[in-house]
Amino acid sequence: MRRIIVAIDGYSSCGKSTIAKELAAYAGYTYVDTGAMYRAVALYVLRAGVEVSDEEAIKQMLPEIEIGFVRTADGQHVCLNGEDVEKHIRTLEVGNMASQVSTLGVVRRFLVEQQQAMGREKGIVMDGRDIGTVVFPKAELKLFLTASAEVRAQRRYLELQEKGEKPVFEDVLRDVNERDYRDTHRQESPLRQAADAIVVDNSEMTREEQMAHVKQLFADACSD
Ligand code: DC
Repeated sequence: MRRIIVAIDGYSSCGKSTIAKELAAYAGYTYVDTGAMYRAVALYVLRAGVEVSDEEAIKQMLPEIEIGFVRTADGQHVCLNGEDVEKHIRTLEVGNMASQVSTLGVVRRFLVEQQQAMGREKGIVMDGRDIGTVVFPKAELKLFLTASAEVRAQRRYLELQEKGEKPVFEDVLRDVNERDYRDTHRQESPLRQAADAIVVDNSEMTREEQMAHVKQLFADACSD
C-alpha cells in the first residue's frame, strides 16, 4: 500500500485529534497536532507579556521559538524550547490566545513551513484548520470534521471538568462560537473546507462508528 498524507481539518473541539491520533496509530503514521504548535506560540507570547496587537514584537520573537514533539507514556506532548508544555497549552486562556496569534500571517508562515517539512516523507496524519487548503493542498486524503456547536461545547466542557477545572457551560459555548467565528473569518488562511475534502459530521456518530468510517476512507485512499 502506498504511503499517503492525511489532512484533517475542522472546527475546534470536534474530535479531530482523537480521530487523527487513532488513525495514525492504526496506520503506523506520524501524527502532528498543528493546533498544539499554535498553542505553544501563544504560550510563549503570553509568558513574554506581549500584546497580540504588537505584530512586530511577535515577529521578532519567532526565531527564539523552537517547537517539538515528544512521545510520553500518555501520548504525544508538545515541547517549547525543550520544555514539555502539554499541560500548560490546554487551558481556555491559551486556546483563546492561540486563536488570536493564528490570525497573524508571520506566525502562520513560520509554522506552515515547519509543517510542510514534516510531511516530506509522507506517512503523516496532520490535523488543524488549513492542512488540506494550505499546508498540503495535494494531500491524498482530506477530511473535514464537523459537529454542532452545542455538541462540541458539551465535549469541551467535560474535558475541562476532567482536568479539574470548573467551567460554566455558557462560557464554553460562547468560547466555541467566538473561536469558530475567528477561525472562519480571519484574513490569513481562514478555516474552510477544501473542494476535494470529505465531510464527516460526527454530531450523531459514536467514536467507533466514526473510526470505522475513517479507516475505510483511508484504505480507499491508499489503494487509489
Ligand atoms: O485545534 P486547537 O483548538 O488546538 O487550535 C488552537 C487554535 O489554533 C485555534 O483557534 C485555531 C488555530 N489553528 C490554526 O489557525 N491553524 C491550524 N492549522 C491549527 C490551529
